[in-house]
Amino acid sequence: MIHFNSETRAFNLLLDNSYYAFRVDGADRLVHIGWGPLHGAPALISGAVVEREYDVASFEQQLRRDELVAYGDTSYHEVALKVCFNQLPAIMLPSEDAHLPIRDVRLRYTGHEIVTDAQPGLAPAHGLPTLINTPRETLRVFLDDPAQPFRVTLCYRLTPEHDIIERWCELENHGMAAVDIEACAFATVHVPNGVSEMTSVTGTWAREFTLQRERLPHGLRILESRTLQTSHAANPFFFLNRPGQAWEESGTVYFGLLAYSGSWRIAVDHLPTLDVRVHGGYNPADFALRLHPGERHVTPAMVCGVSANGWGGASRRVHAFTRERISPRPPRDSAYRPVLYNSWEATYFDLSVAGQTELARKAASIGVELFCVDDGWFGARRNDFAGLGDWVVSPAVFPDGLGPLISEVKRLGMKFGLWVEPEMVNPDSDLYRAHPDWVLHFPGRPRSEARNQLILDYGRPEVAAYIYEALDKLLSEYAIDFIKWDMNRNATEPGSPAGKGVWRAHVEGVYGLMDRLRQKHPGVDIQSCSGGGGRIDLGILGRTDQVWTSDNTDALDRIRIQEGYSLAYPARCMEAWVTHAHNHQTGRDNALSTRFDVAMRGALGIGASLNQLDAAELAEYASYIAFYKRIRHVIQDGELYRLQRLEEFGASVIEYILPDGSEAVYSVAVRDSMVGLLRPAAQLCGLNPTATYTVIDRSDRELLRATGHELMALGIPGDINQGAGYSRTLHLKQQP
Ligand code: DGJ
Repeated sequence: MIHFNSETRAFNLLLDNSYYAFRVDGADRLVHIGWGPLHGAPALISGAVVEREYDVASFEQQLRRDELVAYGDTSYHEVALKVCFNQLPAIMLPSEDAHLPIRDVRLRYTGHEIVTDAQPGLAPAHGLPTLINTPRETLRVFLDDPAQPFRVTLCYRLTPEHDIIERWCELENHGMAAVDIEACAFATVHVPNGVSEMTSVTGTWAREFTLQRERLPHGLRILESRTLQTSHAANPFFFLNRPGQAWEESGTVYFGLLAYSGSWRIAVDHLPTLDVRVHGGYNPADFALRLHPGERHVTPAMVCGVSANGWGGASRRVHAFTRERISPRPPRDSAYRPVLYNSWEATYFDLSVAGQTELARKAASIGVELFCVDDGWFGARRNDFAGLGDWVVSPAVFPDGLGPLISEVKRLGMKFGLWVEPEMVNPDSDLYRAHPDWVLHFPGRPRSEARNQLILDYGRPEVAAYIYEALDKLLSEYAIDFIKWDMNRNATEPGSPAGKGVWRAHVEGVYGLMDRLRQKHPGVDIQSCSGGGGRIDLGILGRTDQVWTSDNTDALDRIRIQEGYSLAYPARCMEAWVTHAHNHQTGRDNALSTRFDVAMRGALGIGASLNQLDAAELAEYASYIAFYKRIRHVIQDGELYRLQRLEEFGASVIEYILPDGSEAVYSVAVRDSMVGLLRPAAQLCGLNPTATYTVIDRSDRELLRATGHELMALGIPGDINQGAGYSRTLHLKQQP
């Protein structure tokens, strides 16, 4: 509910378990009052009791908590918005021209409205439904500069059931001269003073989502990507709590995520006063946004929320929000993500009709539902030196096109998927030979290659149009159900006719292509991959169904990568493969049980060379896949509890549970263990205390029968003394 008190001029945004409040002050500035969990029944806050003294001393610290901190009047600290006006206000003498541009914007309240259909910038345009599509209230607050014809509208869209507010802003130039935006965050959020312990992730290729928790010193802490995609090195989300005052299931945790896949930045400013404010949005590095007269720019959203149930509560809120409001849910024969087979690690570039057909038959025989052909099927792409950009089936690999393989895959009862990398080109390709100017570059300067490829310039509309035609032709000609959309390098030499705007234009180009393709081919699902988990965020998840978490498929490494991923993103979208016993990335050998138990924590895929497996091993695979199909509704649509995390005891014990508590999946995976250290049993969460549950294993054997209370008090026996690599997955069912 959105409430405005015209006397106190206070706004209260009331969600199911939290509130967010701000008000218009005596100088018409929009000032934050507070944000946090609700204590009992919803109640309104006027802000009278928290009036702060600000602007009082000559060395004051800019303590005013502007809802959007802008560069103007007193700006000693980091800002969300910096604007340059290129024209003098009408009242000024022309002799003042020498002072242009005016680098000072002041935001004064002039009105507001409450609407139900507002959309942030770059909202999906594919028209596919999400699981829940009911309208949501959005508050739009108008802030105008008193001297320049420039308006900023702050938007707040409420999803009360998950305590989530999406924040974004709209910038409008109502004047006669261009306005240059030098910095533009989607939102500023203020958390209570002292909330200065941050959880975020860092990483590299094959080591994504490495959790880091730190007590922030005073000053600026920057999380960012300076590439055209989300990044392996950081991910656009933060969790904040008072140091030592939050844990997995307790304490107040504030969180925010950017729905954007390009060059982003989250700047956490911990002021010497203990004030903590976070600005999240476009990365100001190499940033430019010019608004011509009459133009308007709508930013993407920062998705913010607060949890009174620790980091776990924060994760569950974002997971549910993503499953229900972000992920596309077009009508499909199954409500769940299919079990996938991908031949990349089995065959790499060594593709053939016979080889793929043999793999497809074996995949179908063990229960796979979606067969995806990876890199190497097109143009001259027999290795990674050539062919990218030429999206035509290679007659050398598929002499009769993809038709025969697709028919066989469909005859076997599976869906068919295909790998593409639409943003790239190898210099050794027909596309590059025809259009060497279509890549990011600066004239007369070297073009740095990475993996022997260059990046297509989506700042040129003709490039995105060309790629759309090529992919549309492919999807129109063949019965393709799924595309794996890859992106395998960072940007260098970002030259484009779009200038600095190319950073945004690239993201708009990718989103636009995906949206147009999905609109025209609503039966096609998309996986987002960027050399593993380089493009995972709430923007891409609005137009893709699942993401490739990491190229690292080693089960023990995956425990950690997936745990970091699970902070912000739901299991349903997390593609996880079982690959060979001897892992290609780490050279480590892992038991099949570990590989399956870890991969079954998300959307299960198989990437092992099935041709190297004997009948007994294939039967073992089939048994795991059948088990996964019996429990995936709980994994993919249930709520996650991280019962034990790696940082505590070297083991990850998680539980997925249906909201009504009727079924749960318990999953243990031990990564490190030490002789003589006894982990405590993991107490389950969310069960119905008085109900009786059966605990069932993969072979449908009942291992235990106990009440919800017993399981939540004592856990499931048998796991605490196990060594590294030990794992198991169990299914809990409430008895009628
Ligand atoms: C990187 C991806 O992450 C891999 O799974 C595979 O698709 C290769 N690219 C193909 O080049």
